[in-house]
Amino acid sequence: MSWKSYNQSLVRYPQHGFSLDLSMMDIEPAYVAALQPKISKAFADMVAVESGAIANPDEGRMVGHYWLRNAALAPTGELQKAITEPIAALKAFAEKVHTGAIIPPAGGHFQQVLLIGIGGSALGPQLVSEAIGQNARLPLYFFDNTDPAGMDSVIARLSQVGLSKTLVLVISKSGGTAETRNGMLEAKAAYEAAGLDFGRHAAAVTGTGSKLDQYAKQLGFIATFPMEDWIGGRTSVLSTVGLVPAALQGLDIDALLAGAAAMDVETRKQDPTQNAAMQLAIAWHCATNGKGEKDMVVLPYKDSLVLFSKYLQQLVMESLGKELDLDGQPAHQGIAVYGNKGSTDQHAYVQQLRDGVNNFFATFIEVRKGRSGPSIEVDPGTSTADYLQGFLRGTRKALYESGRKSLTISIPEVSPFQLGLLIALFERTVSFYASLVNINAYHQPGVEAGKKAAGAFLETLNKVRGHLTADAKTADEIAIETDADPEDVYHCLTHLSANGEVQISIGATPAEDSFQI
Ligand code: PA5
Repeated sequence: MSWKSYNQSLVRYPQHGFSLDLSMMDIEPAYVAALQPKISKAFADMVAVESGAIANPDEGRMVGHYWLRNAALAPTGELQKAITEPIAALKAFAEKVHTGAIIPPAGGHFQQVLLIGIGGSALGPQLVSEAIGQNARLPLYFFDNTDPAGMDSVIARLSQVGLSKTLVLVISKSGGTAETRNGMLEAKAAYEAAGLDFGRHAAAVTGTGSKLDQYAKQLGFIATFPMEDWIGGRTSVLSTVGLVPAALQGLDIDALLAGAAAMDVETRKQDPTQNAAMQLAIAWHCATNGKGEKDMVVLPYKDSLVLFSKYLQQLVMESLGKELDLDGQPAHQGIAVYGNKGSTDQHAYVQQLRDGVNNFFATFIEVRKGRSGPSIEVDPGTSTADYLQGFLRGTRKALYESGRKSLTISIPEVSPFQLGLLIALFERTVSFYASLVNINAYHQPGVEAGKKAAGAFLETLNKVRGHLTADAKTADEIAIETDADPEDVYHCLTHLSANGEVQISIGATPAEDSFQI
């Protein structure tokens, strides 16, 4: 590491205040030279993606998230309209909600929003809300799981202002995801318990004709916005999925889109040395040996970016974590991503990063501006912002000195434009990296399998329910009666016991525990 290598390795876009410092990644020129044919292919793949090729072969779909911030690039007029018309509609909708042209049945204005979604239908909106939603016109709350206690706690918080003043936004591309459906039904029940008509407080973002779309029509939802099949969940933050909640919060969605468009312009450059996304993809390849051999630790030194690591975790791991490559050969690809924020994490896992197992590379995100407005001196001449910078600079140096690699992304502030830049940077990096390692970044067979996984348990659970009696029975006895695996039956029984449906008498081992109504 040296001043010279900093100058040589830096990719910067001064007009946006953005820079990417790879000097602490120690990427050998020979490594990049050997990768050159794959780099050229990655650029060609990207041109094909942006031209509307079927870049997601398993699902036979185009991959259109890059068009969302410049609809003119979408290959047909129909696709362009599928971007511009919903944006106009969602802006008009948010405006009407804000001005009171759309009001709740009980009168007054909608004052808060409950977003129900999961995965790509929640993580992007959560990131945007946390990063730039501090002074939101309508604060955003989330159901992003099927945990009843979690939902109760959100409903309790919403009830302080009142469900009658809460707009519910149900987001599901497929319109059939169990967690989201359950959340919607729980919310509906809470509205009905409060004597409110759920449909007249609800809007949806979903694929046209999906189950949710049909349900929204049946219940007379206030509005429905389309989600196109050529946008993946984890790359949907700049589609209706992210823009409807952002507009309802009163955020500058044009600036968010402009930031992403600006990064797209930079990262379409065919010169890899000037292309921050390609530089990042090469850095990931070099750090992980193109096989995910090291984890990526994401450390934004800014509280408002605390969800960026969680957002990136999905974007990277759901896109790159694949069993087979594009030729159908076993690949078991991926890069594990975790993180939180600095300097907080310096008092948690950074100890291991510095001194323990060297199985990671760090991604520092530096936000140069500390705060708007003046700062006090916490030491003579020194502010808290100075400390934050000091901890970031000190930690990356300390890591490097103990042989740990890192890269640093610097932005001037966390604004809608800068957030758009960051989102677009990582979306394109993921696409480039997927090309470098020859995998389909745009499907999610593991997620689809997971969506079906609960079915078997629920089937056994219902069979077990049907065999409970006032006479005590063991899991083995019920397993014989239901022709099920005794361990599965046992877990059903402990679940029923914890939820008050059956009484448990503890034996010496689980096999001797008995259950009765
Ligand atoms: O990125 C993805 O494809 C997934 O994480 C989905 O977003 C998630 O499973 C939710 O799916 P849906 O929007 O169809 O409810």
